Amino acid sequence: MLISELVGVEEWGGVGGRPFVVYKYAATLDGRIAAADRTSQWITSPESRAEVHALRAACQATVVGSGTQRADDPHLAVRSGRDDPRLRVPVQVERQPWRVVVDTEARTPRGARVLDDVAPTLITVAEDADARHLEDAATVVRLPRAEDGRGLRLDALLGALGERGVRGMFLEGGPTLAASFVSAGLVDRIIAYIAPALLGDGKSALQGGSITTMADILRCDLLDVARSGPDVRLVARPRR
Ligand SMILES: NC(=O)c1ccc[n+]([C@@H]2O[C@H](COP(=O)([O-])OP(=O)(O)OC[C@H]3O[C@@H](n4cnc5c(N)ncnc54)[C@H](OP(=O)(O)O)[C@@H]3O)[C@@H](O)[C@H]2O)c1
Repeated sequence: MLISELVGVEEWGGVGGRPFVVYKYAATLDGRIAAADRTSQWITSPESRAEVHALRAACQATVVGSGTQRADDPHLAVRSGRDDPRLRVPVQVERQPWRVVVDTEARTPRGARVLDDVAPTLITVAEDADARHLEDAATVVRLPRAEDGRGLRLDALLGALGERGVRGMFLEGGPTLAASFVSAGLVDRIIAYIAPALLGDGKSALQGGSITTMADILRCDLLDVARSGPDVRLVARPRR
């Protein structure tokens, strides 16, 4: 599949005017996306990680939750073939996508890697959060809190991204934020990189959320299976 097919560009106009949401994660054969001590770098191979830069570049925003920001301090910008000759997919970056942290209480520290000037950054916080330390380093967007008390309202997040020209949103986790997106019926595409490895403990690709019994299982249609270096890449579409 072409990069544009992987992120479902042809379907972007078909989700009711909101951004199309692509959830990508890297997991082991036993479905873990992090070890018990919360470390997760790196589960998959350099080839898979290089391909992820091309996927990011094909979307207009790369989004993570505050838990991932704290655990991994990710940079989230697209690395291009010019910056890194090891990239298997030669990434062309015309314009860096937004880097987005969904951070209700504005706990992203001032020294976070995502706050450098390589790409634009948007930190979404609650209307009453104290985000003064972030205001000169990022675009701070205030959103209403979710009614169930779990973070921020995802429809408002998608609205804020749509207003900034985002048509394809690349969700890089973590599992708590992704589970909220799945529970809200807001994941349109799943791209899973599965490494031939076992971790035995640690978080799985979704944590929490509304699926608790077999009657609620969310079946997906498998769109593609391919090898990515030593890993396997699966592309699926949740059934609605
Ligand atoms: N292998 C992979 O592909 C991969 C990818 C990413 C992360 N990880 C791993 O995942 C772990 C972190 O996962 P995590 O579950 O703690 O963090 P997460 O999903 O990145 O962030 C969860 C946090 O986001 C905030 N949030 C704001 N609005 C939300 C909403 N509507 N729904 C849910 N959350 C919302 C909440 O905190 P506040 O409300 O306090 O802001 C919530 O606790 C780390 O170990 C990391 O290494 C692995």
